[in-house]
This record gives sequence, structure tokens and C-alpha cells, in this order.
Amino acid sequence: MDSDLLLNIDDYARAARARTAKDTFDYFEGGALDEITLRENTDGWSRLKLYYRVLASVGTRDMRTTVLGQQVSMPIVVAPTAFHKLACEAGEIATAHAAKAAGTLFILSSLSNTAMESVFAQAGSPRWFQLYIYKDRGITLELVRRAEAAGAEAIVLTVDAPGLGTRERDSRNSFRLPDGLTVENLAPLGKGNMPDVEGSGLAAYVKANLKSDLGFDDLDWLCRSTRLPVVVKGVCRGDDARKAAEHGAKAVVVSNHGGRQLDTAPATSEVLAHVVDAAGDRCEIHVDGGIRRGSDVLKAIALGARAVLVGRPVLWGLCVDGEQGVMNVLEILRRELDEAMLLCGCTRLEDIGKWVLDPK
Ligand code: FNR
Ligand code: LAC
Repeated sequence: MDSDLLLNIDDYARAARARTAKDTFDYFEGGALDEITLRENTDGWSRLKLYYRVLASVGTRDMRTTVLGQQVSMPIVVAPTAFHKLACEAGEIATAHAAKAAGTLFILSSLSNTAMESVFAQAGSPRWFQLYIYKDRGITLELVRRAEAAGAEAIVLTVDAPGLGTRERDSRNSFRLPDGLTVENLAPLGKGNMPDVEGSGLAAYVKANLKSDLGFDDLDWLCRSTRLPVVVKGVCRGDDARKAAEHGAKAVVVSNHGGRQLDTAPATSEVLAHVVDAAGDRCEIHVDGGIRRGSDVLKAIALGARAVLVGRPVLWGLCVDGEQGVMNVLEILRRELDEAMLLCGCTRLEDIGKWVLDPK
């Protein structure tokens, strides 16, 4: 395909589908059960309308900001997603390089195909590590210690996956890692491979290894166990967000895991304002799920998010053209946000407020 024709994130999704094995594409694209939340996430942003202001004397726009005090060139950061070597050979190293080139945050999944030590050595700052809590606390602590030693600047604790939501596409495809790929961070700890069972090998891996009875005591334990700031990812309610902050979280990510966990959970665009109201005075609020246009980013900022995370768009970039593909995807979103700011009458991110979603 002529890469000149890849104008937007949906173009990248289509191009990725055309060049990626079906079971991999289904794993990346799919959601839980009827995929209602998956669709709602994107639809929710589209439903919000922009009441732009005019004659606002906007010159050059500035979208620089900080996340937990660290500089980023834009409020669009790379979400943690598993298994990047399914998308391209360079895997997570390619993604880390692209995030660095874009001057933005890279969050590495626990479930990467490349060891965190190799990835973080190639990543720019900021670089955060996403943590799943294993049943074996020793293993979990070892991951935290290695992340600290490898240069991670925060730990992102994912709390919406005490078990894996059923992805029927993966069940039908008997999704598993091909020979030669492992859950690399866990390989030295004896948890590098998925069980060889019928159905989704990933679901079986999560059931066998991740702690299902996660509680606020686990968050307390993590905050005590690391000198790094802890971010809680996967929050859907204001009261949970506030409690997470009271238990030590320095940021929360409003997320339903891209519609991959509890189906019929609400679109994150509908949850965000409630979380900002409940906890915005206590910690940073970030959001992900269904961000496909720069105008979606502007809407998230208007609702009080500090930054948005993008998951699948980055994976589509990786599938289409590795590191360059991810760079292109991030630059498309940057360009679109810049245009949305210009046309809404906003010079800086601080100019974007609730007013832009309100005609009065
Ligand atoms: C994810 N996500 C995820 N989250 C996490 O905390 N750890 C992980 O390992 C993964 N793995 C993962 C794999 C794939 C293929 C996807 C699509 C997603 C969730 C991710 O961080 C994020 O919440 C969503 O992807 C955001 O939604 P969008 O941007 O994909 O719509
Ligand atoms: C997923 C897990 C790995 O969503 O977070 O596939």
C-alpha cells in the first residue's frame, strides 16, 4: 500500500489488518464478549461535540506538559500493551525508540517479548513499568526491583485484570505465543510460557499466575515496597479513584483496558469527569480507551485529564512499519491535536476547559 495514503489511525488499522496474521490481529483488535465497551470507547468520544470559540487570537500552539513532573512534548503517551514481537521483529525496542523520538512517555507492559533491561536502556525519559501482581509475591517484588534498577521512573499497577476478560476471538483462535517468543521478563522466573491448553493460552496463563484476590492491601504493599511513584490503571469509578489516591497512588488512569475486560463497562469518556471530580484534587488523572483522533485528546483534556494513553493505534503502527509506523501514528495524533486546538481557539493545554463541550 502507498504509505502516503495512510492519513489517519483508521487507515493504519486497515493496513495492519491486511498484513498481520489473523490470530494476532484479532488479539490486538478484540475486546471482551460482545465488544460493546470496545465500540463504546470510540463512539463516546465521537458523541461529544466541540463548541469552539472564535477570534481567540491563537498563534503557535504549545502542547507540552508534564506527567508526574516529567516533561513530555504532548499529552499523548504510549499505553502498556503486551507482545510487541507479534507485530514486528524489533518489538518493544521499536516502540521505545518511537516514543523517544516523539518526546513522549513509554509504558512497558509486564508481558513484553523483550526484557525490560534491554528496552529501558533504549528508551528516553519518561519510561514507566506496568506491573501485574503475580500470586507469588517474590516474583512480583523481583519485577519491581528489576524495573527500578533498569531505570523505570514509575510503576503502573493494573487493577482491572484480576482475571482475563473472555475474548471469544482468542478462544476460537486458540491464541498463544508462537515458538521462539516468550513472556520475556518472566522467563528467568519460570513464568515465561503460556500453558498448552485448548482455547486462549493467555487466559490460562493469567488464571494460573496472576493474583485474583487483589485488594487495596496490595496497593499499600506496593507503595511500601518501592521508592517509585505508583500509578493505578483501570479505574471506572470516582470513589475507587479517590480511595486509590488515599492509599498512595500519585496518578490514576481511567481505563477499561480498551474494552477487553468487563464488557458493558461504560465508555471512559463518560467516566472521566466523575473521576476528576472525586480525585482530581489529590492525584493526576489520565485516561485511555478509544482515542483515535486529536480531537478526542482535546475532549479528554477538557474533561480534566492530564494526558491520554493510546494502545491499539501504536500496535497498528508497529504492524505496518515498525518503529517508523509508530512514529507516524504519534505524529498524526499530534498534528490532529494541534489543528483541533487552533480551531477551538486554544493556544495552550490550560486554555482547554469544560467550556469547549458546553454551548453556554
Ligand atoms: C492491552 N492493555 C494492557 N494493559 C496493561 O495494563 N497491560 C498489558 O499488558 C496490556 N496489554 C494489552 C494488549 C493489547 C493487545 C491491547 C489492545 C491492550 C490495555 C492498554 O494499556 C490500554 O488500556 C488500552 O489499549 C486502551 O485502549 P485503546 O487505545 O487500545 O483503544
Ligand atoms: C491484554 C492483557 C495482556 O489485554 O493485558 O491482552
